[in-house]
Order: sequence, then structure tokens, then C-alpha cells
Amino acid sequence: MNERRFENKVVLVTGGTSGIGRATALAFAREGAQVIVAARREELGRQVVGEMERYTAGCTFVRTDVRKPEDIENLFRIIKETYGRLDCAYNNAGIGLPLKRTAKTSLEEWEEIMNTNVRGVWLCMKHEISMMLKQGGGAIVNCSSILGLRGEDGMSLYVASKHAVLGLTRAAALEVSHRGVRVNAVCPGFVDTPMIEGLYRTDPQRILSLIPLKRVGIPNEIASAVLFLCSSAASFITGKEIVIAGGQGIRA
Ligand SMILES: NC(=O)c1ccc[n+]([C@@H]2O[C@H](COP(=O)([O-])OP(=O)(O)OC[C@H]3O[C@@H](n4cnc5c(N)ncnc54)[C@H](OP(=O)(O)O)[C@@H]3O)[C@@H](O)[C@H]2O)c1
Repeated sequence: MNERRFENKVVLVTGGTSGIGRATALAFAREGAQVIVAARREELGRQVVGEMERYTAGCTFVRTDVRKPEDIENLFRIIKETYGRLDCAYNNAGIGLPLKRTAKTSLEEWEEIMNTNVRGVWLCMKHEISMMLKQGGGAIVNCSSILGLRGEDGMSLYVASKHAVLGLTRAAALEVSHRGVRVNAVCPGFVDTPMIEGLYRTDPQRILSLIPLKRVGIPNEIASAVLFLCSSAASFITGKEIVIAGGQGIRA
């Protein structure tokens, strides 16, 4: 089936140079969207745009470090000048950190993860919401994690950052849904991307023992949920998260 659900739609994907973000940007492009990819690595950004343009014209890479408010200002200035509107946004850019217990974490690590995973999402949402309210509608999806819903030993900063993303999602949905802007989140479990490479290589059996489907996910399995939440098929869904984790976390 070759659906083109996002023909003539303008879509932003942050962190679209790798992993889940890259797969999602390509999935939007395959369905006809004009996609803006925002991340730091220019060479990879240019490659993604090249691939997207096999399916649709008018895609762009904007070099953006979501830790830098001035980069986010610049990104939205370019979106306004180039496209004049924004229909969907997937706030995906995020980092993990080496496994460390709370007492061993530093202020620098707190700032690094919060500035990327939380402040970056919040600042992007501010711009996305004001553009979408002005044009009368839109759909935002934030990337949380299964660890946005529960704790994990040795990952307190990441866990806190992904809980915050769900908090922003729910609160913003209450503010703007009645004006046509839906705000939702995805909560992936283990997905085969560079982010989990080290963890998976160290102890694959431990990871697989947590997942009833007995495999890690692939980036396209998260992309499908993002596109669904942005599509008209999800027109009655707002302020919610979809967990895509192969059943991880369902055991009593
Ligand atoms: N993989 C998993 O198992 C898993 C599970 C749950 C949730 N997630 C979440 O999924 C999202 C994507 O992760 P992934 O697994 O696809 O990892 P990934 O392959 O490492 O991709 C991370 C993406 O985020 C971008 N990024 C990181 N810091 C950035 C910054 N300061 N400014 C702009 N972009 C930045 C990177 O681009 P540049 O380096 O080019 O800037 C890259 O495109 C993250 O939010 C992550 O927390 C992943």
C-alpha cells in the first residue's frame, strides 16, 4: 500500500540524522510531506535530505543544536520564511547517558540531559504551538520513552527527562487541543539505534529477557506510530502516549 497521507503537509523532525528520527523523516517523505530535519551533523543531514527527495520535493536540513535557544530561533525563522506554515512536528532529538546511579551523577550531566531532552522539546513546542494556533491546527508528537512511565536503576536523569516530556505533552494538550492542535507522545522500548548499541552489545540476553516479543524494535516501528498520531486517523487522540515496546513492562 502506498498511502500519501501527508501530501502538501510541512513536517518538522528534530534529530532526524540517525535512528528513529531518520526513519520517521523518511517515512513522512515517502507519504508526500515536505520535511525539515533539524540536528547537528550536517553531512548526515544532507544525506537524509537526498534520500527524502527521491519521494518528495522541498525537504530541508537546518543545522540545529536543540541545547542552543538561538539555533531553535533560527530554525523556526527558516521554517516561517521558507514554508510559511507547519502542520506536524516530531520532537525526537534526545540523548542517553552512561549508566550511573543518582549519587554518582553530576550537575554537568543533569544540564546536558535536561537541556537536550526537556528544554529542547519545550522550546521547540513553544514555536510549534504558536505557528499552529495562528494557522488553526496541527499535530505535535514528542519522544518520551518507556522510561517516561517507570523507573530504572542507574538511569535517573534519563528517566526524569522522559517523565518531563510526558508532563509537557499532557499539559500542552490541555491548553491547545480545543483550538485544533493535538499533542501526543511515543514511548519506545528498546529500539535498534546507535543509542542502545553499547548497552545491547554488553548484555543482549538481559535486554531480551525483558521483552515478551523477544527482540528489540526497529526504527520504522516507532515511525509508524508517529505518523499515525499525526494523521487524521488519530483525530480524537490528544494528550496521550503510545507505548511501542514489544510488550516490555506488561508483566505483573
Ligand atoms: N533507541 C531506543 O531504544 C530508545 C528508546 C526510548 C526512547 N528513545 C528516544 O528516541 C529518540 C531518538 O533516539 P535514537 O534511539 O534514534 O538515537 P540516535 O540514533 O542516537 O539519534 C539521536 C538523534 O538526536 C539528535 N540529537 C542529539 N542531541 C541533539 C542536539 N543537542 N541537538 C539536535 N539534535 C540532537 C541526533 O542528531 P545529531 O547528533 O546530528 O545532532 C540524532 O539524530 C531520543 O529522544 C531517545 O531518547 C530511544
